[in-house]
Amino acid sequence: MANFHFYFASCVLLLTLSWRTSTGLPVRTLDAENCAQCSVLFKSLLLNITELLNNDLLCYGIRSDKVALRSNAETVLTCAPALTQNSGCIMQRNSPFSESECLRNIMKDLGYYAAAIDSYFNFPLRRSEEEKSLLKPTLGMIQTLRKNCSLMPDAGNDSSEENPAQMWGNDSFNNRQEMCKMMRGFHIRTITINRAMGYISSGDHMQ
Ligand SMILES: *[C@@H]1O[C@H](CO)[C@@H](O)[C@H](O)[C@H]1NC(C)=O
Ligand SMILES: *[C@@H]1O[C@H](CO)[C@@H](O)[C@H](O)[C@H]1NC(C)=O
Ligand SMILES: *[C@@H]1O[C@H](CO)[C@@H](O)[C@H](O)[C@H]1NC(C)=O
Ligand SMILES: *[C@@H]1O[C@H](CO)[C@@H](O)[C@H](O)[C@H]1NC(C)=O
Repeated sequence: MANFHFYFASCVLLLTLSWRTSTGLPVRTLDAENCAQCSVLFKSLLLNITELLNNDLLCYGIRSDKVALRSNAETVLTCAPALTQNSGCIMQRNSPFSESECLRNIMKDLGYYAAAIDSYFNFPLRRSEEEKSLLKPTLGMIQTLRKNCSLMPDAGNDSSEENPAQMWGNDSFNNRQEMCKMMRGFHIRTITINRAMGYISSGDHMQ
């Protein structure tokens, strides 16, 4: 219950910020109720991917502990807090933090990973049914987030992304290995996204 109040308060703030930045332009904003749901959904997605990676199925027998960051959305850059000058940090940006740019890149990420998981199902898999039933709920969560939490109707449809289906081939071991590495990368990206949502909600970028 305490958590719910926290999210709700944050989201009212997020909503206010969207209003202020949308100065007259017809930008769609999340209503307070949807917004509260979205913060919760992003947290659930993170927990879900954590669980998914703890499950032995996807990464079973894979020795490599490589992480693949597949999506080329600029979430890390555009969602980094505005930093004080000369902090010596690599992530330093010249432009101020843009909430809508950050959200746009988050949606681009989600679009990429949704397409990647979706296409994975069409290729040879070691334990097809089990892998599908493991991944499908997560795919569903991503789709809900894309539908309910996007500011733009066609967000995440970006032709500049390479086609994720290119990752998969005829070899079920390779496919699973690529999926395992990709989900590790997505896990890290989801941590970044949750951090960004917290930053946006805190209103720190308005100071
Ligand atoms: C992810 O969440 C969905 C929906 O709550 C659930 O059905 C599924 O079992 C979860 N997956 C994992 C790996 O926890
Ligand atoms: C997504 O939005 C629809 C209506 O816009 C709503 O019915 C549904 O409950 C929302 N889903 C979640 C998980 O918040
Ligand atoms: C997004 O891309 C998919 C596949 O490329 C396409 O089928 C769909 O119509 C596009 N959606 C929008 C809103 O552009
Ligand atoms: C994959 O399998 C299909 C059908 O079995 C075959 O036609 C195709 O050449 C194979 N592709 C590769 C890259 O091995």
